[in-house]
Amino acid sequence: MQTHQYEAIIVGGGGAGLMAALYASRSVKTAVISKLYPTRSHTGAAQGGIGAALGNLEEDRPEWHAFDTVKGGDYLSDQDAALTLAEEAVSAVIELEHLGLPFDRTPDGRISQRRFGGHTSNFGDKPVRRACHAADRTGHMILQTLYQQCIKNEVTFFDEFQVVDLIRSGDAVVGVIAVNIDDGELHIFHSKAVLFATGGWGRVWEITSNAHSLTGDGNAITYRRGVPMQDMEFFQFHPTGIYKMGILITEGVRGEGGVLINDKGERFMEKYAPHIKDLASRDVVSRAIYLEIEAGRGINGQRYVYLDVTPETVNRYLAEAGEDRRITREYIETKLPDILDFCRTYLGVDPVTEPMPVQPTAHYGMGGIPTDLHGRVVVDAQRTPLPGLYAAGECACVSVHGANRLGTNSLTDLIVFGRRAGKHMAEYCQGADFVALPENPAGEIQEELERLRKADGTRKPYQIREEMRQVMMKHVSVFRTAEGMQEAVETIRRLKDEYANNLHIDDRGKRFNTDLFEAWELGCLLDIAEVTAVSALAREESRGAHSRDDFPKRNDEKWMVHTLAYRAADGGVELNHKKPVDMSLAEKDEKFKPKERVY
Ligand code: FUM
Repeated sequence: MQTHQYEAIIVGGGGAGLMAALYASRSVKTAVISKLYPTRSHTGAAQGGIGAALGNLEEDRPEWHAFDTVKGGDYLSDQDAALTLAEEAVSAVIELEHLGLPFDRTPDGRISQRRFGGHTSNFGDKPVRRACHAADRTGHMILQTLYQQCIKNEVTFFDEFQVVDLIRSGDAVVGVIAVNIDDGELHIFHSKAVLFATGGWGRVWEITSNAHSLTGDGNAITYRRGVPMQDMEFFQFHPTGIYKMGILITEGVRGEGGVLINDKGERFMEKYAPHIKDLASRDVVSRAIYLEIEAGRGINGQRYVYLDVTPETVNRYLAEAGEDRRITREYIETKLPDILDFCRTYLGVDPVTEPMPVQPTAHYGMGGIPTDLHGRVVVDAQRTPLPGLYAAGECACVSVHGANRLGTNSLTDLIVFGRRAGKHMAEYCQGADFVALPENPAGEIQEELERLRKADGTRKPYQIREEMRQVMMKHVSVFRTAEGMQEAVETIRRLKDEYANNLHIDDRGKRFNTDLFEAWELGCLLDIAEVTAVSALAREESRGAHSRDDFPKRNDEKWMVHTLAYRAADGGVELNHKKPVDMSLAEKDEKFKPKERVY
């Protein structure tokens, strides 16, 4: 078994991992381990933009961005994190521009910005153009830009290495275990610090915008090694995924003027969010779509509505709203080229002449591995750091998104908190010595992988996976009830038992054994699904993306707290509801105090 030594190990080659690697590698020996070739990471699927109050087209301010983040998060966001994100977003986007990111431009050469859901000026007054974008390929451009910079900075990459365990020694984190997917050999990575940036876990649900690789690996690994998962009940459904496929149709479509239409031809968001309509926050729009469908107003009685960005429709509504702006076919072709491609390819629908069939799609986890503002993983309600362990990006929960993330803030989060974590990690490594590895650090995981490779039961991983995805889609999605969530918890527990005792995999080999890796990923998904359903069942209120029919109101008196979910000794989930929400902005300014959200 080979052992490698790097001061800083970063697990995951998406936006957060690469930004952290770029900063760490300026002063310490840094490696990135990624199960994919890094530029295939899911950051590349982020479309519509990165939020920053540059004010290039109209007045905007970081405190307005912070306000929208807190309000969008239904007041569960830690307010110090929201302010940090909004303030540092400005320099972060300009840094990306200087690193070479080809943003779209305004006529006078500045970074172009568009409207997005929940982005407003003057504390909710009216929509504002805040989403800095490179057509509808913003995430792709971020990934390419950062990867090139990391190569230039001599970061070492271990591509197509699956990290499968974390090594702890006493109080410290001292490395990770990974498998080289190519030959199946285990490798030990000994380090002073480890950062997880492994992205989300949308593959828990049946309809999702997430890539096949988003299986919550970093979350499951750290959870199994004693780290709690925070606020996992909050999982965002993006309102507009391609019907049945879940592929993302960017909110940028509505930012450019697109509207949602039901079977009666009504622009139904006028009813649910009279002020900013189709640009309300995502939880509000997803619920509205579900309600229209439940009321029988899905298109042809089916479970989808239309998203219409044809110039004819958009221009009619722009004129009605008294706006001067008009759009043309050429404009849509330039601003939304990938969306047009997806719809033409997968649906045979041309969005410049026809509306797109859409439904809400599982998109983004607001919760995750709890961290402080420097990306240090914190393990209790008192925010005690675990020395040597960092997390950033979607797998992490610095708690900036609260109960519902604002569109574009995922990319902002990657860059702002990836940069902070990379800087802090480098300082930590410079002041720390290597701590010796424990004896046989790979023993336990080696045994588990061998068990999976030889698993000879009757249930195939895909069968267990599909059952999990269906029950989570049915009972732990946009609307929830105690009964449904209880059923989900029981089903997931039964599936975990089958996974442990009756699994069957076909490929017994070592080389590129995707059967084995899919089985291992399934174990991660099941752990994460259980934590999500148990956390959701316990929170008896409705807030942001967690909307319960049986507890339809937000309850600030009882539930203005974060959930921490620990793995119990018997393998179950143990919950703690003692971690308070940071309210530092509300303490100084009335506007940040929790109130009913009106859009
Ligand atoms: O709608 C979108 O382009 C998605 C962006 C996001 O999730 O922030």
